Order: sequence, then C-alpha cells, then structure tokens
Amino acid sequence: MMKRALSTGRVIFANSVRLRAASALNGRKFAVRTFQSTTAPRVSTVKLTRENYPVERLPYGTLSAEDIAFFKSILPESAVVQDEGDLEFHNEDWMRKYRGSSKLVLKPKTTDQVSKILKHCNEKNLAVVPQGGNTGLVGGSVPVFDEIVICLSNMNQIRSFDKVSGILVADAGVILENADMYLRDNGYIFPLDLGAKGSCHIGGNVATNAGGLRLLRYGSLHGTVLGIEAVLADGTIVNSLSSLRKDNTGYDLKQLFIGSEGTLGVITGVSVLCPPKPTAVNVAFLALESYEKVQELFVDARAGLSEIMSAFECMDTRSLNLVAEHTNQPLPLGEEYPFYVLIETSSSDSEHNSEKLNAFLESAMEKERILDGTIAMDETQLKNLWAWREMIPEAAGRHGVYKYDVSIPLPKLYGIVSDVQARLKEHGVLGDTEDFPVIDAFGYGHIGDGNLHLNVSMRRYDKNVEKLLEPYVYEWIKTVEGSISAEHGLGFAKKKYVCYSKDEGMIKLMKSLKQHFDPKGILNPYKYL
Ligand code: FAD
Ligand code: MLT
Ligand code: ZN
Repeated sequence: MMKRALSTGRVIFANSVRLRAASALNGRKFAVRTFQSTTAPRVSTVKLTRENYPVERLPYGTLSAEDIAFFKSILPESAVVQDEGDLEFHNEDWMRKYRGSSKLVLKPKTTDQVSKILKHCNEKNLAVVPQGGNTGLVGGSVPVFDEIVICLSNMNQIRSFDKVSGILVADAGVILENADMYLRDNGYIFPLDLGAKGSCHIGGNVATNAGGLRLLRYGSLHGTVLGIEAVLADGTIVNSLSSLRKDNTGYDLKQLFIGSEGTLGVITGVSVLCPPKPTAVNVAFLALESYEKVQELFVDARAGLSEIMSAFECMDTRSLNLVAEHTNQPLPLGEEYPFYVLIETSSSDSEHNSEKLNAFLESAMEKERILDGTIAMDETQLKNLWAWREMIPEAAGRHGVYKYDVSIPLPKLYGIVSDVQARLKEHGVLGDTEDFPVIDAFGYGHIGDGNLHLNVSMRRYDKNVEKLLEPYVYEWIKTVEGSISAEHGLGFAKKKYVCYSKDEGMIKLMKSLKQHFDPKGILNPYKYL
C-alpha cells in the first residue's frame, strides 16, 4: 500500500479503508432494461412523444397485412416482432423520456435482408428507425409515431480479425463489450469504451460517433473506423469495408455515416483499427477543492503522464453523492469533496506505468493540487473505482433527468453548471422538498476532451423547467463557442437547436445530402435536421 504525506502533514492514500469502501460496488451490474413478452403486457407510464411534444405525423404509408406478409417471406417468423410486450422495449428510450407506437420490429440477420426491407419500405413510403442497443440519450433510437424499427441485434457476427494489423471487421449488431472481449482474447482492445458497453452495438456507436471514456487516448471513431458497409434508403448496398489504413481514392464517404444517427442509411458492418491491449493499467481517484484545481491537475497530467494517460474524468460532488445514494455505499474517499478526478494510465510496462503515476501524484500533492485520493491496487479495485464514474448516468436516471452533453472551452466549462443552478434557484424551481420539481443540477464528464455532461435531475418532468433550460443552455453554449452536442448526437431532443452549433450554409448542405441519400425521407424521420 502506498502512503504519502501532504506538505500539511496530512496523510493521503492510507487507502485500506477507502479501497474497501470502493470495492463494495464489486460485482454490481448496470441495470439493463429489457421487456420480455408476458401474458399481460406491461403498460408503460412514459408519455407518448407525440402527446408530449408538438410534432405531427408526416404522410408516410401505414403498415398493411401485405407488408407483414412480405417481411415474413424474407425473414424467419421470430424476426418479425409484433407482440405488444416485445415491442415495448423498442418503442421506449433508455431515459424513459420518449415513446413511440411502432407496431413492428424487424430483426434481419444479413445485409441482403436489410436491403430487401429498405427497398420495400422505400417503395411503399414506410418510415423506419434503425436501432442498435437502444442506449442513445437523445431520443434518436425510438420511433416518434408508428415507424418500423429495424433492430440490428441479430447481425452479431465477427467477420474477420487480422492479428498483425489489429483490424476488426464485424457486423454492426455486435455488442461493444462482446467485441472488446473477443479482441482482448486476441491481445487487442476496441478503441472505444463507455458505460453502456454491455448493451450498445458497435454499429450504434458508429452511427452516433460515440466518444466515451478513452477518446483522449485512442481518438474519435472518425479516425479509427476504416470502412463501413451500409444499406441506403432504396436498398442499395454500399461497401467500403476496407482493411487498409490508407486509401486516397475519392471522397471519404464513410465519414458521412459516422454520426449520421440512422438518417443516411443502415450501417450493417464496420471495419475498425484496434489498439493493442495494455498490460499495465492503473487508476487513481482524487479529490480536489475547486474546478480551477481540476484544470491545473489536467495540465500537469498531460505534461507528467503524457503518453500513458488513457482517461481523465471529472465529477462534481453531487454526481458522486447520487451514486452513493443509488448504490447505498459510502463515498469512495469516505468524505465529501467539491470535485473528483479519475485518472487512468495504461501501457505495456507496469514498472514504468506505476513509477510515472507515483511521481505525478507526489508532485500533485506537493503543489497542493489534490486534497485526498486513492489508487487501485488490483483489478477489482480498479473496476470499482471506475464504477463510481460509470454508474453516474444510471444513478441520475433513477429520477427524470434533462441531459445536456456539451463541449465548452476548458476554462469556462464548469461555469454552466453554476449558472444553471443559480437560474433554477432564482426561479424557485430547485429545492429540497416535494414542492420543487428540480432536485439538483450537476456536472461530470470527459474533461480531458472538453466534454461536460450537465444533468438536471427532476422529481417530475415539468414543461416550465424545460422552458427555463432551453434555449438558455444552448444560448450559453453559443456565447462561448462550444457545441450543443459533444458526443450523444442530435436525435429528437436537439434537432431544433442545431443552429446553435452549425451555420446556415452547413445546415443547407446537410439537408441537401439527406435529400440525396434519402429522397423520400423514410430513414429516421422527425430527428437530426
Ligand atoms: P441506439 O441507441 O440504438 O441508436 C442510437 C442512434 O443511432 C439512433 O439514431 C439510431 O437510429 C442510430 N443507429 C443505431 N444503430 C444503427 C445502425 N446500425 N445503422 C444506422 N443507424 C443506427 N455516448 C458517448 O458518446 N459516450 C459515452 O460515454 C456514453 N456513455 C453512455 C452511458 C450510458 C449508461 C448510456 C445509457 C449511454 C451512453 N452513451 C454514451 C450514449 C451513446 O450514444 C450510446 O450508448 C451508443 O453509442 C449508442 O449505441 P446503441 O447501439 O445503443 O444505439
Ligand atoms: C457518460 O459519459 O457517462 C455518458 O456520456 C452518459 C451520460 O452523459 O450520462
Ligand atoms: Zn459521456
């Protein structure tokens, strides 16, 4: 065990107690919502999107018995889902905020089947929603009205893996965690990791251009995805499933699909460049007195840990309190602090990794950047410390929550949390008792990427609170030249606010691309643009 003294004489990393506290989360699994069909279908309490938001159904066709017969002619019976209980999971989003009323979910197993489905839907003017693991956080993955859901969960095969180059080619419906486990068995890892890894699909990750916990180290999917296979609205299959790192022949069209959220085509396969599995991984969980200290620590960490730093995540006190309440566990450092930072280092040399991290922590203590902290001494403790960070969305989602996933220049980043809190208090909607609709506003996120998750947790959803938040939050972001969506995308939630982050010329060009790829607008309507 590591024991060090602060210049004040205070001992930190006397961590046996703290690590025991952290390890209490051991074995805890994220709650994954699945609704199986039962004799009496469960009645959802989530309001229908069309009742909750001003949106009108566009003149698409309506599903007929002939359509069902056609789908049954190209898919096995079990892949044509009409049971009300089974439909529910696909109609409702992860936050339980948006709900559609689709009467049909199709689960193709091959690219050819996806092509036949889309060709038919395009001809019959039937709207569709591509769906992966349904963990998206902007209401993009569920229907708004009666769109047909095309769920990729049966397209779950690894197609090939080249152990020399580290290039994986896989079906879009492979669950992220499964892809990562397969790669780990082969000495590699998936270049993306996020809290929803047990449910989300790699196709969904690409469709949302997910960022996650280690973007700082491995970069965005725009860099690591080498190729895509997709089916366009009219059923045309386009394939650029390259296993090449370099290919300068024409427009790099795959980039358009990365982050297109199911509006340009259904992604059916991806080719990804994967990094080698690090053999030495360390995690430090630190307490800090202010956001200024967080920034100072980040500058030091970049300089001191440089190539071995693989994550720099920050959480405020309220974020962590929520996890403690949700899991009924004591805080990982025993006491409450204003801010926490989780730093992960990884490399192929454990001695070098530990030496560098220890030297960095020692210097951080000398400079009084940190108040307290603990480091994981083994794999279990490491997972437990990570769980305190990864569990925040689930803990926050226990209540209703307004989520704002934003990019802000680092010096101003946390300012929005304080300003939103002040605004909600000033308008008398935030408080400790049942009289107030808002419980609290708090922030956490991938600070190393300049990406904050501002959450406003609610006792009950309230349109007046929504009006206080929107467009206020987006205007705030615009004034600091940030982005209204750092990694979750636009979906249904942010569709009308895209103008806060893209100028008119860009929006016009995006609309004309959409028109070109999907002239009838059958792919994921009412979202994105
Ligand atoms: P879905 O939710 O099913 O779909 C998302 C969007 O992509 C929809 O618009 C859908 O139409 C489209 N889509 C899905 N599959 C396809 C396909 N094959 N072809 C075309 N379009 C498709 N995001 C981050 O960026 N970073 C995080 O750290 C992060 N952490 C999360 C933690 C939790 C607990 C949760 C619940 C979510 C988190 N997310 C995070 C949100 C994130 O967007 C997703 O988890 C993930 O990328 C979505 O994948 P999915 O398969 O669930 O897609
Ligand atoms: C995260 O970083 O935990 C996710 O993006 C999910 C969230 O914003 O809650
Ligand atoms: Zn995130």
